Amino acid sequence: MVCRLPQLSAMQLDHSGAARTAVAAGTTVVVRTGKTAWAGRTTRTGKAAGTRKTAGAREAIIVLNPGLQTCSDCDMITAIDKKQLINRRRKRDMSKILLINGSSKKQGCTYTALREVEQELQNEGLETELYQLGKEPVRDCTACGACRKLGKCVYNDDCINELIETAGESAGFVFGTPVYYAHPSGRILSVLDRVFYAGGKAFAFKPGAAVASARRAGTTASLDVLNKYFTIARMPVVSSNYWNMVHGNTPEEVRQDLEGLQIMRGIGRNMAWLVNCIEAGKQAGIGYPPVEEKIATNFIH
Ligand SMILES: Cc1cc2nc3c(=O)[nH]c(=O)nc-3n(C[C@H](O)[C@H](O)[C@H](O)COP(=O)(O)O)c2cc1C
Repeated sequence: MVCRLPQLSAMQLDHSGAARTAVAAGTTVVVRTGKTAWAGRTTRTGKAAGTRKTAGAREAIIVLNPGLQTCSDCDMITAIDKKQLINRRRKRDMSKILLINGSSKKQGCTYTALREVEQELQNEGLETELYQLGKEPVRDCTACGACRKLGKCVYNDDCINELIETAGESAGFVFGTPVYYAHPSGRILSVLDRVFYAGGKAFAFKPGAAVASARRAGTTASLDVLNKYFTIARMPVVSSNYWNMVHGNTPEEVRQDLEGLQIMRGIGRNMAWLVNCIEAGKQAGIGYPPVEEKIATNFIH
């Protein structure tokens, strides 16, 4: 049966990952497979060029760009993806906000700040997980590049691959750090370097907030470093009514920082609002925006 809107269609990938599709030539599409997304324009013949298939993914869905009409009763679509779409929605409904405490102190100042954010997220009806990096040694990135092939870190002796997996199931992120010599903790930097390098796709288009806790100074420099993980990974950055910081050398002192705690609650509410807006957009057919193939010039022009 022919779709009432000729540019809307479902697509199947063959074993080599090549795409067969009935999409009109020149249509801008986003192709989602099990774990990856590809975006671009269809070629003159209507085929989606350059589509890659994830292992295990049997089919892909073409989602039209925001603003374009969608067909609600296209047999081609329903025959292929109805079940998959429902499962995806269910999975999204279960999405949680992952908060990472970059201090080795499990119940210190950073934790106190993150708990204030978490409480507000829960008040807004969102599920949360507060992940403690703890005191165990964390390896720095060795730049071996193995993750490019593996899709995960080659080292399995710490929390990195577990975190990448958890990130994939999460709808938003809050990274908290104590300030050490005016920068984030070495612990959280080692973790984020490896998690983003090996598993950056798990974060794309999901909102992120950075939180810094200091006795006195170095917060904005630390926030600047953490925010850069978000902006290289296409993540919307969540703000509040001031820069995302608390002050104190002990949890008791942080609890006295009433302005800081208010900022934390604002992060929670703004994060919840953004996550809900993104989800509502998806339900209305506005998916993630298309991405271009990465250009890396390495300063050679
Ligand atoms: C190694 C080290 C360096 C620190 N450097 C700074 C600093 O540059 N500026 C500051 O205000 N506080 C600094 N502090 C204090 C902590 O940032 C502050 O106590 C923080 O709130 C502790 O958070 P936590 O209890 O979650 O670990 C430093 C603490 C340590 C252990």
